[in-house]
Amino acid sequence: MRCVSWLLLGNCLLVLGRAVLGAPNQCPNLCHCHGDLQHVICDSVGLKRIPRVSEATRLLNLQRNNIGSIPTGAFSESKGLISLHMQQCQLKEIESQAFKGLKKLVYLYLSNNEINNIRPGAFDDLTELTYLHLDGNQIGDLTKGIFSPMVNLFILQLNDNRLRELRPGIFTGAKDLRWLHMSGNELTTLHPGSLDDVENLAILHLDRNKMSTYPSAAMSKLRVVEELTLGRNLMRTIPDNAFQSFGRYMEKLHLDNMNLERFSDGAFTGVTAIKSLHLDNNKLRSLPKSLEFGTITNLTLSNNSWSCTCQLAPLRRWMDSSRSRPDAVCVSPPSQKGKQVRDSNAFIGCRVKAKRAKKGTRQ
Ligand SMILES: *[C@@H]1O[C@H](CO)[C@@H](O)[C@H](O)[C@H]1NC(C)=O
Ligand SMILES: *[C@@H]1O[C@H](CO)[C@@H](O)[C@H](O)[C@H]1NC(C)=O
Repeated sequence: MRCVSWLLLGNCLLVLGRAVLGAPNQCPNLCHCHGDLQHVICDSVGLKRIPRVSEATRLLNLQRNNIGSIPTGAFSESKGLISLHMQQCQLKEIESQAFKGLKKLVYLYLSNNEINNIRPGAFDDLTELTYLHLDGNQIGDLTKGIFSPMVNLFILQLNDNRLRELRPGIFTGAKDLRWLHMSGNELTTLHPGSLDDVENLAILHLDRNKMSTYPSAAMSKLRVVEELTLGRNLMRTIPDNAFQSFGRYMEKLHLDNMNLERFSDGAFTGVTAIKSLHLDNNKLRSLPKSLEFGTITNLTLSNNSWSCTCQLAPLRRWMDSSRSRPDAVCVSPPSQKGKQVRDSNAFIGCRVKAKRAKKGTRQ
């Protein structure tokens, strides 16, 4: 007999009671279960519907089945769920109130489905949700306020969808969001105000989109971005003050593969902590005066059109004092063509700007 100690006795009575009432206290068909149904694993077993699981279940893994949609109240008997895995379930639609009752859910994995329709109210009740993974779907549009129940949302993964624009109100309520991943969408426009609700973002990935101008107005409310990726958006220039509102925090910036031709002189105004800067595969000839190299430890510059004149002397000076001496080939003037910046004699005799006496707020 198992019911020997008081603890186990309690457990057994509970299970017995549920059995009498006919509640879904058995491991669902085709699934395996551990720890008194706390973990229910139905990975790749050919399910066509969401199985009934009891309130005792904390983790439900339904990956790689053919479930198609999440109807209203699909999990209403499973109020104890903390982690729900539904990757590769051929999901197309999430109905309103699909997760009704899941007030303890922290992790929700919906990646690699075919979701194109998330109905308003779909995420109601998900007040504890912290991690939401929606990458690899076909989401083209998000309703205003769709994430508003998720006051604890920390990470939102929306890579590889079909988002075309961000409008104000999309992120209303998700005030604690820190990581927002939207690489590989079709974003052309981040409208002013569209990121105002998520001013505490630390990581923002926007690479592999279709923006042709830097979204200054949308970015200007962000305060603490540490990592920004914009690679593979084709834009010709980066304007003044692009990163100013979060410049003291920004450590990583990816501006590779963008066809960039130039930076405005004040593009890097306010950027004081940058460690990693990626500018490879552009058409840059020069770097702006506002870029200070002092904190940089990882710089990529290859495949540009560097003009090796005194305007690049600060870069060369950084290379001479740095452990890494990245690849950067001069394209002009003719006497320097084909030479590496690190080896070129073009910088002999360049007057180097005197160092500022002290970092401070005075200009
Ligand atoms: C160099 O960069 C251009 C874009 O500016 C890109 O089209 C080309 O493929 C790159 N070449 C190499 C060898 O990566
Ligand atoms: C430099 O940054 C790139 C891109 O983030 C990374 O892959 C690489 O490992 C970094 N290199 C060093 C030496 O930190």
